[in-house]
Amino acid sequence: MRKADLLCFIGLTCGIAAESLAQTSTFTVKVNQPTATVQPTMWGVFFEDINMGADGGIYAELVKNRSFEFYKPLMGWTLQGNRNEGDILVLNRQEAKSNNPRFLRVKVANRAKGDLGMTNEGFRGMGIKNGLRYDFSVMYRQAAPGVKMHLELVNPKGEIIGKGEISPSGSGTDWKKQSVSFSATATEPKAKFNIWFEGNGSIDLDMISLFPSDTWKNRPGGMRADMVQMLADMKPGFIRFPGGCIVEGHDLSVRYQWKKTIGPVEERELIVNRWNTEFAHRPTPDYYQTFGLGFFEYFQLAEDIGAEALPILNCGMACQFNTAEVVPLDQLEPYIQDALDLIEFANGDVNTRWGKVRAEMGHPKPFNLKMMGVGNENWGPQYVERLKLFTKAIKEKYPNIQLVSSSGTDPNGERFEYLNTELRKMKADIIDEHYYRRPEWFLENAARYDNYPRNGSKVFAGEYAAQSDKTVSVNNKNNLRTAISEAAFLTGLERNADVVVMASYAPLFAHVEGWQWTPDMIWVDNLRTYGTPNYYVQKLYSLNKGTNVVPIQLDGKNVTGQNGLYASAVIDKNTKELILKVVNTTDKETEGEFSIQGVNRLAAKGTMIVLAGNNLEEVNSLDNPLSISPKQKDISVKKQSVKSKLAPNSFNVIKIKMI
Ligand code: AHR
Repeated sequence: MRKADLLCFIGLTCGIAAESLAQTSTFTVKVNQPTATVQPTMWGVFFEDINMGADGGIYAELVKNRSFEFYKPLMGWTLQGNRNEGDILVLNRQEAKSNNPRFLRVKVANRAKGDLGMTNEGFRGMGIKNGLRYDFSVMYRQAAPGVKMHLELVNPKGEIIGKGEISPSGSGTDWKKQSVSFSATATEPKAKFNIWFEGNGSIDLDMISLFPSDTWKNRPGGMRADMVQMLADMKPGFIRFPGGCIVEGHDLSVRYQWKKTIGPVEERELIVNRWNTEFAHRPTPDYYQTFGLGFFEYFQLAEDIGAEALPILNCGMACQFNTAEVVPLDQLEPYIQDALDLIEFANGDVNTRWGKVRAEMGHPKPFNLKMMGVGNENWGPQYVERLKLFTKAIKEKYPNIQLVSSSGTDPNGERFEYLNTELRKMKADIIDEHYYRRPEWFLENAARYDNYPRNGSKVFAGEYAAQSDKTVSVNNKNNLRTAISEAAFLTGLERNADVVVMASYAPLFAHVEGWQWTPDMIWVDNLRTYGTPNYYVQKLYSLNKGTNVVPIQLDGKNVTGQNGLYASAVIDKNTKELILKVVNTTDKETEGEFSIQGVNRLAAKGTMIVLAGNNLEEVNSLDNPLSISPKQKDISVKKQSVKSKLAPNSFNVIKIKMI
């Protein structure tokens, strides 16, 4: 990109650049000279429980702190009514049940409805929909039966917008589960949930839960369908989970351990979310990982949306921005065993130990796991020596599993250079590169992979997002400027699909009232969701990934910023289409002429999908979710040539049938 164009894009000297752009750019596309195969995995999604992405987000549970295991056992709950000392007690059975030790004991003596109760505030309220069924469940045991529970959804004015009741049956020391469903009578984004106790008796309560019935695929205890749909709509090639830094944990005691996230939900031991305390400027004291969304559900989600699963496991190191704890090498074995067991859990026969667990959870068929990451943003020789032990053990037992290794936190610098060299020496399968950089970096690096080694390790562009301000700044915006710079950069990934085999924007989800990190691809509140301009860029790449890269050039050169333009091209052998991606990063409309060579005939009409906006600062929002979203139009094709206007600051996808 010329300096004047770059200055214009970053908003300094648009006048100068504009004058020099009144011209036609003539692109040459060589359809019969494919240079690389586009992997089906090329465009995927990165899931992490950050910004209330899982609990309070895609995991549809409405009750916060349902099992009283948060640091403060009654966080999220307010006790109501006329209480006597000891009426409601938090009990801890640590020795008997260390994975879910706390429960509530409620003693009720001659209570009428409204006398004694408790309210759950939800995750920044509860999103409730008029007419929808809500499913309440509770685990209980009662020494002295006789307690009736009145359940109420209330709006901020205290008006009841849904109610049910439950009279737990039986007495004894064993825990039982009882459920009841009721419908809501109003839509409310900020509802709360009351439980009133009536009668005489004593009851122990745990796992107090409320789910909407319209979860993804209507699975009880499942995920928010609108959020999953946003992912499904992208047809992602892979889904990476569970992160991100939560894999590493602040220290090793709170690292992500997949075995603790499977089986009955009441047995899954919650831990504090690493993002709870990470940023002093964005504290989220009520952020925990209940693991209602655990590894089984992640695999199931991947299968549902047709994506390859990419689990990332802890490599024996805690987050190096935090404690940087490492496990001594001679004690790494359990960590490695976790990795081996995960492959068995995903792929093993139902007669294997972990394959049986998967089958018992309802999925006897293997998930057909093909790849796995070892470590997230880990670096230094301490990472390499651990990775080597993992690699040896995994490859010995499962030679076909592709391993993803970390190249640290940055796409350049000493740490990156060291790891990139070491990993390539090790013949690592896939190296995970991360880039959280300013938009200009994305433009300047559109040719990053043009000169990468063509053989050896492949690249996973595992986390990227243009930062309108700077990394971890709360002022970062998902505006058109960042989206366009990413679109330009991604032409370089696509052009080099023989080197870059996977790519994902990060982070994925953010709750408008519960986020720690911005920018993020998809934002939600308790009822709504919207895609950012960055989402539409990813989606356009993913839905138009094609099967083979073909050259598109300006004056015999790759299009990497000449006249402020960036471009890549693919053909899709299945749909017999030519797909051009062209990004105009200038503030002027410009004319693109595409001379298409090496093809017999093209359809007389093609389509052009345009992502553009009114200005570079423009954003989407919950109220204006589609301000910047793809618009489609027809374009005419004259023999082997297409002419089209490229709007200022636009990402354009041109699709033409080859006949
Ligand atoms: O995407 C947010 C964080 O950025 C991820 O957890 C981490 O891998 C990176 O530093």
